[in-house]
Amino acid sequence: MSRSAHPAGPRHADVLPEGHYSAPPADLNALDPKVWSHTVSRTEDGVVTVGGLEVTALAEEFGTPAYFLDESDFRERARAWRTAFGHDADVFYAGKAFLSRAVVRWLYEEGLNLDVCSGGELATALSAGMPADRIAFHGNNKSVHEIRTAVEAGVGRIVLDSFQEIVRVAHIAQSLGKRQRVQIRVTVGVEAHTHEFIATAHEDQKFGIALADGQAAEAVRRTLALDALELVGIHSHIGSQIFDMAGFEVAARRVVALLAAVRDEHGVELPEIDLGGGLGIAYTSDDDPREPHEIAKALSEIVTRECEAARLSTPRISVEPGRAIVGPTAFTLYEVGTVKPLDGLRTYVSVDGGMSDNIRTALYDAEYSVALVSRTSDAEPMLVRVVGKHCESGDIVVKDAFLPADLAPGDLIAVPATGAYCRSMASNYNHALRPPVVAVKDGAARVIVRRETEEDLLRLDVG
Ligand code: LLP
Repeated sequence: MSRSAHPAGPRHADVLPEGHYSAPPADLNALDPKVWSHTVSRTEDGVVTVGGLEVTALAEEFGTPAYFLDESDFRERARAWRTAFGHDADVFYAGKAFLSRAVVRWLYEEGLNLDVCSGGELATALSAGMPADRIAFHGNNKSVHEIRTAVEAGVGRIVLDSFQEIVRVAHIAQSLGKRQRVQIRVTVGVEAHTHEFIATAHEDQKFGIALADGQAAEAVRRTLALDALELVGIHSHIGSQIFDMAGFEVAARRVVALLAAVRDEHGVELPEIDLGGGLGIAYTSDDDPREPHEIAKALSEIVTRECEAARLSTPRISVEPGRAIVGPTAFTLYEVGTVKPLDGLRTYVSVDGGMSDNIRTALYDAEYSVALVSRTSDAEPMLVRVVGKHCESGDIVVKDAFLPADLAPGDLIAVPATGAYCRSMASNYNHALRPPVVAVKDGAARVIVRRETEEDLLRLDVG
């Protein structure tokens, strides 16, 4: 992950510490469109705007820290996936990346389906009016209550993750007098090039049923034998924040090989294959993500080719992007509280949030960018570490980045590409109040998830 050390260095240090940084950008005031949402720009006065609204005014109205979600950008990205995959495929947005009722409505309007992985996500989807048959229900240990709710609601598919679950879902469907459409999640044995905690298709992890030792074929056998289940396809998800298409291609090949084996053994051609989510996004200017149309082309070519070779009719493909849709559409706005230069090391910039609103840096060593957004500055670049206000030193939001050396308390800084897995993984650590999500579009801003209050915290504390 580590990149080359910067040759020039911050002005307060003679020797540069080890780090994940490259040279400071030529222009610290520039906003790289790779990492910022589409409607972000700067006014002539230097204030950053999103959806036509100045961040200074947004901070005034909604407070900091806060996530600002660019609705037009979200819709554009959702539409780009939908268009790229066309009518012969389905796009299931992975709600774990970020889910709220407004988002569910946008997805519905843009023609996407939804992947949920808990009773809470299912409840959110249903309460916002997503038709149940457009919902897929995932998870390696769905509770009986969750399965019952999903079957009763009539979800389009349940993705089976274990032998126990095959029987469990069948029993519940039978008791409700229903036949449930299901897919089987298989582990294809691919080592995805990403952080260990977000790689999911190698054998030694908790998800899915292994292809390699015949377990997946056995799961198909057992599922086909149960009248209460309608097996519609095979599912594979290899991991997250992946740039290399090779893993998806191997997965597609192995899943198609299973379809062929199922046809040979049972005389049934399963009509669907789901290749999961996992496409990487740009967190820094060094990342080069693939566009949805490139991904759609690569996946459909490989599936078509493999199916032709196996003389199978091409199944309906589905994918489950989460991060690639919502990730780039939001930034987190913070106010700088303290600026602490550590001679010979770097400058620590403390903001009013931290690991409670973005755990990804601490958990995955994730890299982020950061910019001064309430004004421009001609000051020299200084090497900074943006840290939160929590009581531990691992509370880091941006590990290594450059900000202008005149940065001062009261300045607003923003961390882009925080739409995915930030609010959805936010916590109340140190009794922090989780920030709001504010949707911005065409000069209007509205809260779609409100800021937590101390009353919210105390309401749960019933002792
Ligand atoms: N489908 C399934 C079955 C999944 O498990 C996931 C993500 C997705 C789709 C969506 O993956 P995406 O397109 O968003 O990469 N918290 C981690 C990511 C965990 C991903 C879990 N599953 C992070 O912050 O990087």
